[in-house]
Amino acid sequence: MSNHRQLMVSRKITCNSHGEDSHYFFGWQEYERNPYDETRNPAGIIQMGLAENQLSLDLLETWLLENPRAASFMSSGTSLFRQMALFQDYRGLPAFKKALADFMGEIRGNRVKFDPNRLVLTAGATSANETLMFCLAEPGEAFLLPTPYYPGFDRDLKWRTGVEIVPIHCDSFNDFQITEGSLQKAYDDALDRKVKVKGVLVTNPSNPLGTTLSSKALKALLTFVSTKRIHLICDEIYSGTVFSPSGFTSVAEDAVLAECNVSREFVHVVCSLSKDMGVPGFRVGAIYTHNEHVLSAATKMSSFGLVSSQTQYLLSEMLSDKKFTLNYLRENRKRLRQRQKKLVSGLQKCGISCLKSNAGLFCWVNMSHLLDYPSFEAETRLWKKLLHQVGLNVSPGSSFHCSEPGWFRVCFANMSEKTLAVSLERIRSFLSKSLRGQCPQKVLTEPKKLLLYCKSSFTWSIFQPDSTQSERF
Ligand SMILES: Cc1ncc(COP(=O)(O)O)c(C=O)c1O
Repeated sequence: MSNHRQLMVSRKITCNSHGEDSHYFFGWQEYERNPYDETRNPAGIIQMGLAENQLSLDLLETWLLENPRAASFMSSGTSLFRQMALFQDYRGLPAFKKALADFMGEIRGNRVKFDPNRLVLTAGATSANETLMFCLAEPGEAFLLPTPYYPGFDRDLKWRTGVEIVPIHCDSFNDFQITEGSLQKAYDDALDRKVKVKGVLVTNPSNPLGTTLSSKALKALLTFVSTKRIHLICDEIYSGTVFSPSGFTSVAEDAVLAECNVSREFVHVVCSLSKDMGVPGFRVGAIYTHNEHVLSAATKMSSFGLVSSQTQYLLSEMLSDKKFTLNYLRENRKRLRQRQKKLVSGLQKCGISCLKSNAGLFCWVNMSHLLDYPSFEAETRLWKKLLHQVGLNVSPGSSFHCSEPGWFRVCFANMSEKTLAVSLERIRSFLSKSLRGQCPQKVLTEPKKLLLYCKSSFTWSIFQPDSTQSERF
């Protein structure tokens, strides 16, 4: 008898399609067991596997101090407590939807005017993505997703809905951008497996790449969904983190869709305040759609994951303060840019390069030259060393379904600058200690030269010293 029958529970809860048994989540557990703290636990693990934006929380705190009535639910001398505590219409507070729609427009340089009536509020992007799967696909049908992709998608898109993910394999040769060929290949793979494709889901800007879709890739994508007459979901949860002046085009922009003849009913945008405002605990997300069926069904479904009235009220006050939002967006982008630069240059000094990025809370870091063999097993070995010996929880590419071993996502916005400096020092020290055992002394004192040696010998290992490898080096 199968396990769920014996236990008298559903099949869903005994199967492991939620995907939480990956290194990505295991790293978090290890961190929880031994978290770094500058004074109380200086040898602990530094969390670099959490895409959280803590860089601009002080701006939110200052706003709260300056606007105490918003947090205490007072308006014109009257308490709104009862209004907040009692029944909430599942369509959400109109004032909040208007403020959120305006904020989403502001993030996109006001090239889009979002209609609040086309917004469905959800408990974060997690709930928005799952709701869209329910609305657009039957169990067993598929969405195509470019790799590498956010590990939470295995849970959010597949687990409760029974929808399948078919990977669009992207490679480092073109900075992991989607191409016409990779889209068609994924589509054909699904057909070979007799799986019906209902759409493509992309994250733009990408988690884990920290890059925006190039105009060429965006065009290929839009042409593809238009030709196949399938849906496009664009998870734009990182839209407010774009820190280069240009480069982000939202699929909510009408002109972009018109250029490729894409019908608006087939395009759905997912937004959230988890990354752009750094408030994942508030659980605020949204679906924006021109598809009436999806709009109506998703609004009804939002009962399963409403945003609390308190949160909606507080944020409607905050987001309606245009002076605040403009300053917040500008300052947040500036801080992210500076922080990303610190990580990139620090790693560069250790001989480690990152994919050139322009957004996000992380870098996509190439450590393939540090693998003892070009395989995912070797990537796991390196990841374990980084976790247990170096004390850094970074996330290995395999948990993002990357097709090339040796890439890691390293988060930079969930810690202080001082902690980032400690993590970089740990990497530097680990690399030099590992090398000391086997490298000629002259090379040890010249890290740049050392990198050249490493790159020229793929089989060379700094992690498993043995005589053969030393000789090879
Ligand atoms: C691409 C992507 N989508 C969705 C989510 C979930 O976000 P939320 O906290 O809004 O549910 C994340 C979180 O990391 C993400 O990276």
